[in-house]
Amino acid sequence: MIKPGAVANGHIGAIMAKIAEGGFKFKAIRMSRLSKEQAEAFYAVHKDRPFFGSLVASMSSGPIVAAVLEKENAVMAYRDFIGATNPADAREGSIRKLYGTSIEANAVHGSDSDENALIEASFFFNTMDQF
Ligand code: CMP
Repeated sequence: MIKPGAVANGHIGAIMAKIAEGGFKFKAIRMSRLSKEQAEAFYAVHKDRPFFGSLVASMSSGPIVAAVLEKENAVMAYRDFIGATNPADAREGSIRKLYGTSIEANAVHGSDSDENALIEASFFFNTMDQF
């Protein structure tokens, strides 16, 4: 997911180009906007963390771009590719280093397991879609 801050700052094209250069294939793309309730559900695993409220506010603050990506070992490959959660710690040249402005507005989200990738994809794409 390209987060609201990166969308608002005009980085959709640059981020998608980088993802493609990284060898990921786009299987589905959708621009959408999460309501507060949808953002709460999307990040339910973090509901007890101190940053949950501000994460939900930031994720529901504007449009996002959701995508399903394909690559060998895609979940781990993508997490490695985008850089550390905090842009300040992210590898030089990574998406989060280039386009993240804070730990919350860290440009992109990536699923953390194959199981969660399926759950998260189902927020934006219906099960009839051919990934
Ligand atoms: P993301 O990959 O979208 O998954 C959860 C998000 O919580 C994470 O990126 C960050 O944007 C946000 N977040 C805010 N504060 C923290 C924190 N202290 N540790 C981890 N994630 C945080």
